[in-house]
Amino acid sequence: MTSSLPLIPMNDLGRKPAFLLERLDQVARKVVNGSWYILGPHVQAFETAFSAYCGVPHCVGVGNGTDALEIALRALDVGPGCDVLTVANAGMYSTSAILSCGARPVFVDVDPETYCMDPDALATSLTQKTRAVIVTHLYGLLADMDRILTVTNQAHVPVVEDCAQAHGAIRHGKRAGSFGTLGCFSFYPTKNLGALGDGGAITTQDESIDRKLRQLRQYGWQTRYDSVLPYGRNSRLDEIQAAFLLEMLPYLDQANERRRRIAGKYKHSGVNMSAGDGPGHVRHLCVMRHKNRDAFRALLRSAGVATDVHFPTPDYRQPAVMAILGKHPQLPVTENAISQIISLPCFPEMTDAEVGMVSTALVTVSESLVES
Ligand SMILES: Cc1ncc(COP(=O)(O)O)c(C=O)c1O
Repeated sequence: MTSSLPLIPMNDLGRKPAFLLERLDQVARKVVNGSWYILGPHVQAFETAFSAYCGVPHCVGVGNGTDALEIALRALDVGPGCDVLTVANAGMYSTSAILSCGARPVFVDVDPETYCMDPDALATSLTQKTRAVIVTHLYGLLADMDRILTVTNQAHVPVVEDCAQAHGAIRHGKRAGSFGTLGCFSFYPTKNLGALGDGGAITTQDESIDRKLRQLRQYGWQTRYDSVLPYGRNSRLDEIQAAFLLEMLPYLDQANERRRRIAGKYKHSGVNMSAGDGPGHVRHLCVMRHKNRDAFRALLRSAGVATDVHFPTPDYRQPAVMAILGKHPQLPVTENAISQIISLPCFPEMTDAEVGMVSTALVTVSESLVES
């Protein structure tokens, strides 16, 4: 192994295929040459196309995925005095949204195989103060929505799905964003469906919630300059981003399939990959675990493979959260997972040669570094 190899990157947004670049160029020119830049025909067309793709009647474009979560919670009237259940291993996004609403995040432990919310832990965490549950489909894997919804339906508590890593994941014919009361998406450029800037969307089956979301994303307006709903703000999907997303949406399933194939190859190299197969997993991130995580990563790096950790700190141990909530008891499965997880390069534009090199490196490093 040498350290002079160019690294196989975690992602490379500069590898978009030529035909797509050409299309993006054309639509950008169309938007620039038009005169409608905010909440115009492209946003409307994207909302229609994405709601049809997700199998829900309503979709509302917003500024980014974190706004989507906050606006979704506000549409459920979450505010001070409310508890919202979430996980602590999903990068602070849900926790930030809950805190921004003035509510209290209550952290639920995750399943040791899937890293998503553990339905049994959820059942024991619900209280009279629980106003909503945010379920993150982490790394692209649909959480166990059947069991989660059984628990939440019994308690009459709405579920907000965080689908920022799970665009297109499907189980029993239902896609991410169509299980809960609301589904929140990010179109950050590295996402499975990524814009060329920030963007987000919220899906819902409920017409009255759809109406509230549209008001919340624009100053609480019922009609122009008529603010009827408290806590409205400015969070809109740009016309130009909607136009790009419309061009990319038709290729989402194909790109997800490529991600699954890459993950399948890594699985064959014998590493301890996170659970989940088939169309219910869209492998936004390809995550394995190893007890000697840092040494494993260093050896992969020497073999020319970049890695990352998603995410290195549980939300309840982040200073920004501790400043508000104080010290929180550690969640054992969350802590254990966070100490061992490694994200591997996995993006649709990787070449077969790169995938082969990563797989070979995984075999070599696993053999040379026995878990202790
Ligand atoms: C699981 C999850 N939720 C929410 C977000 C927030 O999305 P954004 O960066 O668009 O605010 C992200 C990604 O960044 C994410 O990975």
